[in-house]
Amino acid sequence: MTNHLKQFIDENLPKIEAELYDLVERIKAPQSLKDSMLYSLKAGGKRIRPLFVVAVCDLFHNKQQEALSVGAAVEMVHTYSLIHDDLPSMDDDDMRRGKPTNHVVYGEALATLAGDALNTLSFGVLARLENVEPQKKVELINLLSVASGAEGMVGGQVLDIDGESRSLNLPELEHVHINKTGAILRFSIESGAVLSDATKEERAALVEYAHHIGLAFQIQDDILDIVGTSEELGKTAGKDVQSDKSTYPALLTLEGANAKLEEHYDFALSALTKIEKNTSLLEEFASYIVKRNN
Ligand code: IPE
Ligand code: IPE
Ligand code: MG
Ligand code: MG
Ligand code: MG
Repeated sequence: MTNHLKQFIDENLPKIEAELYDLVERIKAPQSLKDSMLYSLKAGGKRIRPLFVVAVCDLFHNKQQEALSVGAAVEMVHTYSLIHDDLPSMDDDDMRRGKPTNHVVYGEALATLAGDALNTLSFGVLARLENVEPQKKVELINLLSVASGAEGMVGGQVLDIDGESRSLNLPELEHVHINKTGAILRFSIESGAVLSDATKEERAALVEYAHHIGLAFQIQDDILDIVGTSEELGKTAGKDVQSDKSTYPALLTLEGANAKLEEHYDFALSALTKIEKNTSLLEEFASYIVKRNN
């Protein structure tokens, strides 16, 4: 990771986490539910999605404060998706972010409900944003709804499970990755463009960048499942092979998956050249995504 990116993360991560925890600590709900929600949020995580919201707003020097709340909202949805992804009826994982999974600690019922509560809270956070025009809030709520729902993450998760019982071909697998992982990453980047008044052209370039970042991110996740250790990943390594998942390395070999990863990295960088601003932070972010080891 470059010093510039590290500095950006060191500066913004504490602000993002403070906002995230504060939003959840403030709700009035059964203590066991709050504990379960906060358990997964506080377990760690790279916070890539909120960092993207902030990085895009930084590019336009606009709405950095509001980006923290939008970032917290997207991290809630992401964390909910992980709690549900780990359930016995889904990937059946017992380790996440270096800790026992939510259902292992709180039981399946509370884990499911903590996921539900994080999901719905995120939309309230967007609705209650201060200093953002009502029309923009509606746009953000609509974008998150599409990205996280049947036409995005949830739909992708369904196809991902289908991919356990039959091998998907490359276009099918790409479709799964674009939806199960790419859609929420796209929201993270596009919401920054909406908040900070990017032009139509800038927004389109950012969406193109996000498309390739989303694919690269999940291809690297698939690769790390094979080459990483559970200790490094904070989640069970080798799980995809064990469950017979359709993944990029399963379909294309590790070498082929790495070649695809590079391809999407290059496309992500070339999308940024369409923006006449200093996009170095987003370039460094792309490089970090393809080179990360957790
Ligand atoms: C893991 O996401 C799940 C995928 C969408 C591939 P991250 O790798 O961003 O997980 P955390 O948030 O850092 O734990
Ligand atoms: C999960 O994909 C994507 C979502 C949670 C939506 P994976 O099942 O590959 O994520 P990990 O590897 O368990 O983190
Ligand atoms: Mg999964
Ligand atoms: Mg999983
Ligand atoms: Mg995975």
